[in-house]
Amino acid sequence: MERPIPVVLKDVGLTYHTSDGETKAVEHLSLTLKYGDILGIVGPSGSGKTTLLSVVAGILAPTEGKVEVCGLPPSEGKDKCGYMLQRDELFPWLTIIDNVLLSAKVKGLKDRRAYAENLLDKYGLKAYADRYPRELSGGMRQRVALIRTLVPSPEILLLDEPFGALDFQTRVYVVDDVRKIIKNEGKSALFVTHDISEAISMCDALAVLSARPAHVKKFFDLSRLAHLSPMQRRDDPSFGALYDEVWKALEFKKENEI
Ligand SMILES: Nc1ncnc2c1ncn2[C@@H]1O[C@H](COP(=O)(O)OP(=O)(O)OP(=O)(O)O)[C@@H](O)[C@H]1O
Ligand SMILES: [Mg+2]
Repeated sequence: MERPIPVVLKDVGLTYHTSDGETKAVEHLSLTLKYGDILGIVGPSGSGKTTLLSVVAGILAPTEGKVEVCGLPPSEGKDKCGYMLQRDELFPWLTIIDNVLLSAKVKGLKDRRAYAENLLDKYGLKAYADRYPRELSGGMRQRVALIRTLVPSPEILLLDEPFGALDFQTRVYVVDDVRKIIKNEGKSALFVTHDISEAISMCDALAVLSARPAHVKKFFDLSRLAHLSPMQRRDDPSFGALYDEVWKALEFKKENEI
């Protein structure tokens, strides 16, 4: 049987209604996340990136258009998605293994300990299973947070600026690790970032969003770089020109600009 496409967004719109009025966050947005791909999403601050991930996660219902998660409406595909936020949000009073198992516990999934221990082992964290988050570096904590997201076995990872809190050097290494982990585990991911270099080095495709209301302004197919690791991509001769192209696509004119 053919695998369903992880995420399909067709002409999606979302308007927030508050007591102060309406905010149109997303409008006429169409995007497809292919199986096994990491699809980067960059866009100006406040353009609607987090809103978009919440729509895919089934947390927010779109006001227009159609969303499918593994062929299902998002409300039925919730268990297919694992959400990882900007801060690692590990609980300081829980050991690493208990932090990692929490995601399964919350979803009422049992018997995940062996799988969780296996992931910690596979990704160099076995020795830290009984330690506390404060004893780990920022990069290690971020790996733990990703493993926690993987433990309930989601098919799709929703990563909302997951490396924002890390310093530049750590980010470069963590991006390498995280791409490897996502590919090894056969997941598909939507990856929101503000960092163009990070997006080019990590992703298989890249969607540049417009200012709010967000739609896809430009789409970059990066599959020709698939054989290179994030670190190698930064040294690739095409990297600079690609960076400039994405930067140009991101530029937007402010209203009433002088
Ligand atoms: N719960 C809400 N109620 C009303 N408006 C909201 C709500 N959440 C977000 N917005 C508005 O929707 C727009 C898009 O917000 P969103 O958080 O999706 O942007 P973003 O692209 O993730 O921004 P950033 O890059 O700063 O994280 C913003 O104008 C924001 O003020
Ligand atoms: Mg956001």
